[in-house]
Amino acid sequence: MNKPIAILNYRPEHHPAIRRILEHIGWAEQYIAAAEYNADAFAHDSLTFGVYVAVDEPYVVGFVYVQYWAWNELAQLQGLAVEPAYQRQGIASALVQRAEAFAKTKSARGVYVDTPISNQGGRKFYEALGYHFAYQMPRYYEATLDGVTYQKFFSD
Ligand SMILES: CC(C)(COP(=O)(O)OP(=O)(O)OC[C@H]1O[C@@H](n2cnc3c(N)ncnc32)[C@H](O)[C@@H]1OP(=O)(O)O)[C@@H](O)C(=O)NCCC(=O)NCCS
Repeated sequence: MNKPIAILNYRPEHHPAIRRILEHIGWAEQYIAAAEYNADAFAHDSLTFGVYVAVDEPYVVGFVYVQYWAWNELAQLQGLAVEPAYQRQGIASALVQRAEAFAKTKSARGVYVDTPISNQGGRKFYEALGYHFAYQMPRYYEATLDGVTYQKFFSD
């Protein structure tokens, strides 16, 4: 029988996997470097951030970062990716479910997330999880790359 994928709190030994996953996905270097930096920076502030990894022992095959904003009582997904060979198996769904559970422990009203407008797979994923398109941010990622924001309110 296959072992289930475990969703665990991020630890420093998981660090190399962040770059490996994003290189396999094909992200540009500035996004990979930021995600690597954020994993450790966010994990140091567990009151504000949830940093979780999906593990198929001994491999880290996905991750999610979530930040709680006290001023408007919303949580923000700050990073989410799954190793290509492990996609479409429900791993990102499990990671986001864990991120939403973190948000609920903070009594957040809901969760929002930004993604490039061209990220059709990511957008379909958020829609499948009940997130709704909220707005488009011109030139958010790059001079020629807009962002889109999706939201999910727990009261809806
Ligand atoms: C987006 C991403 C995180 C989804 O991870 P995943 O583990 O494959 O997602 P799940 O298996 O939990 O998908 C749940 C549902 O979302 C939808 N979905 C997920 N990926 C999809 C895709 N590429 N195209 C269309 N729908 C998709 C489907 O409805 C899917 O259910 P199904 O497989 O039963 O049809 C993954 O494709 C990824 O890492 N992409 C690159 C990084 C990225 O875009 N991150 C998020 C935005 S910054």
